[in-house]
Order: sequence, then structure tokens, then C-alpha cells
Amino acid sequence: KAPKIVVIGSLNMDIVIEADRYPQQGETMLGHGIRFLPGGKGANQAVAAARLGAAVTMIGAVGTDGFGLELVKALQAENVGTDAVRVAEQAATGVASIYVCQGDNSIVVLPGANHTLLPADIDANREIIAAADIVLLQMEIPVDTVTHAARLAKACGRTVVLNPAPAQKLPEELLRNVDYITPNRTELALLTGRSAEGGALEAAMRELAGMGARHVITTLGAEGSAFMAQEGTLTRVPGYVMEVVDTTGAGDSFNAGLAYSLALGQSLEEAVSFAAKVSALAVTKFGAQPGMPTLQEVLDFNG
Ligand code: RIB
Ligand code: NA
Repeated sequence: KAPKIVVIGSLNMDIVIEADRYPQQGETMLGHGIRFLPGGKGANQAVAAARLGAAVTMIGAVGTDGFGLELVKALQAENVGTDAVRVAEQAATGVASIYVCQGDNSIVVLPGANHTLLPADIDANREIIAAADIVLLQMEIPVDTVTHAARLAKACGRTVVLNPAPAQKLPEELLRNVDYITPNRTELALLTGRSAEGGALEAAMRELAGMGARHVITTLGAEGSAFMAQEGTLTRVPGYVMEVVDTTGAGDSFNAGLAYSLALGQSLEEAVSFAAKVSALAVTKFGAQPGMPTLQEVLDFNG
């Protein structure tokens, strides 16, 4: 039976411009093309998990503008449940302005309606949360809402996965209600206030585990990832060498893969290996949501 994943998070319209390089400050330069693609860390993770075969419900907010309608339709086309995506009367739909240059990207996000998602929205959807195998969270909605969601999910006995992106300091109460946290190196350093470079990685992960989250999984880009259970030792999982087209949403694909595998009851090691494959495939295609692989593609992938 399909595992149930509830994603509580952001929906953004990604306005993606391709260029050979990033513009310098004060510079005007020519780009190659523009695309409007459905994005937002929450929605990306929802679509990725749905393509893997999970039964996904999204809790979020969009504005009354055309972007909002398009984003909701994009989720519906991927079989993501959108009954709990609220249309906010007074806000614009979230937008991400993205430059993609040589496969890499830089992003400015305008949260808009995502920042109208409040603890009351979480309470209104308590039954959906209580029925989830995994509740998957990111940081593109207000931190109080994320904290409240994690608290309620734990009170309902659910498993909580937090992708702490974009990077910011997090309240202790939130960390205590998280079962799996998935920072990249930058986020790990910010969360712990210590270096996570090179050999300092293990100590930083142990520190974060000690702050409450029971399992820490750090994504390391081309180096793969590493995971640690509370007070455990560090296990490294190598990445795959791929022809990278667009890394936008790579972290989202990893989190969806991890959540899907954990929801099936697989071990953390299996889940991290599965997630590594999902993200390896995601970066070979342009766009965040459009590039998410199906379960069959992941099963067929041999690295
Ligand atoms: O993680 C990638 C996402 O971050 C993009 O889709 C963009 O919307 C930003 O939120
Ligand atoms: Na992609």
C-alpha cells in the first residue's frame, strides 16, 4: 500500500533565466531564455514523493493570482492532494527568481502567500497530519508554523522529517520534535554555530543530534551524503557522478526519496542510499519539479 506523506511547506513560481554566467553588480547582460516552472521546496518535495508512488497531501498557501492557480494545477496533475492548499486573499503567490548558469543556480525567493501559513492552518488540518506515515517540513514558511506542525505531528505519534532550508537558526523546541534532519554543510554550520568543513563534519553532526533531532543526514553535493543516529558514528554514502543539467531542487529530491523510503519502513541506511539515487537523477534534468524521477527510473538506475 502507498505510504502516506504530508508535506507542509512552500509553493513558488520559479522564474528561471539561463545565462552563461551570473551578472556582476551593476551589469546588464544577455541571457538565453526564460521559463516559468512550478517550484517551491514544499511543492517540489511533494511532487517528487508522488512520482515515487507515495500518497501525498500538501498543506500550504498561494495567492489569488494566476501563478497560484497554475501551481495548484501542477500539483493536481501529479496526484498530490491540494484540498489543504489555502488561497490567501491578501497575498501574492510565492515567486523564486532563479539564474541557472552552467548547471549551477542562484535564487532569490519572495515568500508572499507562503508566509501567511500560520499555526491555525496546521490545526485545521490535524486529521490529515494524524493519518500520515511521514510529515515532511522545510523552512520556506514561518518558523512558528513549522514548530507548531512538528509539535502536533509528534503529539499524534507521527515521524517528522525536517529539511532545514533555507538556512536559519532553529528553536530548540522544533529540533526536539524532529526525527530526521537533513542539512547541507552550510545549514549544518549555521544550526550548530561551528564549522562543518572537512574533518569537522562529524563533530558538527553530533552536536546537532545532541540538540534534539534524533537522526542527522548531511547532504554533501558531489561528495554524496553522511548520516548519524543519535550518539552513533558517522556513515558516509557516496554520491554518483552524473552529467549535471540543473541542480535546482536537488535537495528537494533527496528529501522526498528519504521520506518515501522511511515511510516504507526501510532502514536509515537504505533510505539515504535511495535518496542519493533520486537526487542523482533529478540533477540530470532541467527544472525542479519537472526533473523529478519516477520510481521506475530510480529502480532502473545503476549509477
Ligand atoms: O529548492 C529549490 C526551490 O527553492 C526552488 O524551486 C525555488 O522555488 C526555491 O524555493
Ligand atoms: Na532538475
